[in-house]
Amino acid sequence: MQRDTVFDLIGVGFGPSNLSLAVRLAEEAGTSRLAHCFIERQPEFGWHRGMLLDDCRMQISFLKDLVTQRDPKSRFTFINYLFERGRLNDFVNLKSFYPTRVEFHDYLRWVADAFEERLHYGETVTSIEPVHTPGSSKEVGALRVSSRDQDGREWQRVTRALSVGIGGAAQVPEAFAALGSHNVIHSSTYLTSIDRVVGKANDASRRKRVAVIGGGQSAAEVFVDLSRRFLHVDASLVIRSGALKPADDTPFVNEIFSPAYTDVVYGQSKDGRRSLIERFRDTNYAVVDRPLIEQIYEMLYLQNVSDDVRHRLLANTGIEAAVRTADGQIELTLRDNLTGLGRAERFDALVLATGYRRDTHIALLDGLAPHLGDALAQGDVERDYRLATPEHFKPRIYLQGCCEDSHGLSDTLLSVLALRSDEIVASLAEHAARDRPASRITPQQKNGMSDGRMAIAL
Ligand SMILES: Cc1cc2nc3c(=O)[nH]c(=O)nc-3n(C[C@H](O)[C@H](O)[C@H](O)COP(=O)(O)OP(=O)(O)OC[C@H]3O[C@@H](n4cnc5c(N)ncnc54)[C@H](O)[C@@H]3O)c2cc1C
Ligand SMILES: NC(=O)c1ccc[n+]([C@@H]2O[C@H](COP(=O)([O-])OP(=O)(O)OC[C@H]3O[C@@H](n4cnc5c(N)ncnc54)[C@H](OP(=O)(O)O)[C@@H]3O)[C@@H](O)[C@H]2O)c1
Repeated sequence: MQRDTVFDLIGVGFGPSNLSLAVRLAEEAGTSRLAHCFIERQPEFGWHRGMLLDDCRMQISFLKDLVTQRDPKSRFTFINYLFERGRLNDFVNLKSFYPTRVEFHDYLRWVADAFEERLHYGETVTSIEPVHTPGSSKEVGALRVSSRDQDGREWQRVTRALSVGIGGAAQVPEAFAALGSHNVIHSSTYLTSIDRVVGKANDASRRKRVAVIGGGQSAAEVFVDLSRRFLHVDASLVIRSGALKPADDTPFVNEIFSPAYTDVVYGQSKDGRRSLIERFRDTNYAVVDRPLIEQIYEMLYLQNVSDDVRHRLLANTGIEAAVRTADGQIELTLRDNLTGLGRAERFDALVLATGYRRDTHIALLDGLAPHLGDALAQGDVERDYRLATPEHFKPRIYLQGCCEDSHGLSDTLLSVLALRSDEIVASLAEHAARDRPASRITPQQKNGMSDGRMAIAL
């Protein structure tokens, strides 16, 4: 491997976390010179495209965009996006802090477009391996990042620091794992799969029974979309709890999403952190925006008025088993949690709105495991989001979106992005100045333009 191909930073994934980092790196002369690039598996920018439903809104103020909390004068604010799109005055007239997700997606893409030259879309990072310091059998001086593009070609790049921002992965409960994906989909791929699964909207040739599993925001949005857009679908929302519960977004509680609260959580013992997260869980998980709950209640009520009951909310309902029948339907064994009574029901399709796992970075970093001790498995992360690594391991690995246990509920959200990227870049710059002898930087890297990847002969 050539020395002049060494990056200062490679970002894995290009969602809002690493996008915010890209902005922060670009906005200061010193850090924009760090040789860096981002690798994203999607062929173009996309923010939860599988759930980009037309009328769904942000769950966070637009003022918590990628930069405003750090630098309201940045050219990458949501307000400047509106201005450049010629919609600022009209947006003001909406009197809302909560744009649609479709509009916020357009904002994120507008920002991402400014970083095209540093981006490698359509490549999935497959492994991270240690690169030993020349002349040392023990010291790890850099990381080799391997990726595969959409044509199956493999690529390698070497870096001194890594920012892992790969988001969550579909959480598929054990009971559904063996059913395959023919007519069982996760909410994360809802929009891209639902037509295939239930047929085109308004295809009245055969009614379809669809069960949506889960009681969170995704489940509620999918349930409403099925009932609204697919007139041939009878939808059942199956929840374990007794009722759809509202997300607590009242102002005092909302203070837990302030950047300063990260210090409060991080300053606790492991038990203390866990207890804080549990205490405020109903701000984010298994909860639904209040207006959406009211919309669902009214929809179910109006069905009763018209005596045309097609959609149902099955509360207090646990799912004990799910099997595929001979004719391809899914039979669910349901149990009423209050009465203990069981019954079986058949559905043509399932949408699992069962949330997300946040542990896929562990498999991605598995090639480094012999050097990292327990740090990965234990979630041992410094305040600056750096994985705690032993002395002989010199590369820095920053983790974004998988530090909820140590840094609090904001970690998986947009809430602290602007300041988190600031903290990471400050840490990165401090170490980069110390680690990188100037003689090893190529002119292209100084301009931050070096690609530095090598094709592997397969
Ligand atoms: C439907 C939905 C709506 C949401 N709405 C809000 C909201 O309104 N407000 C809020 O605060 N939070 C919201 N969230 C939470 C969400 O986690 C954050 O908004 C945000 O997406 C986090 O950004 P991220 O970059 O960490 O992760 P992601 O946005 O998930 O981005 C991760 C990126 O990494 C890429 N990737 C993954 N693995 C690899 C790999 N091996 N190689 C290369 N690339 C890879 C993925 O393709 C993806 O583009 C929402 C979540 C969902 C599911
Ligand atoms: N408009 C938006 O901005 C928007 C839209 C969608 C999602 N989001 C965000 O995305 C994140 C994830 O939300 P989410 O709704 O996808 O997931 P979630 O909040 O984690 O909810 C998952 C749901 O699945 C249920 N569940 C899990 N395993 C189950 C099983 N085996 N059987 C039955 N039910 C099971 C859980 O039930 P229990 O309650 O019983 O545990 C829970 O209700 C949140 O941050 C949310 O705010 C935002």
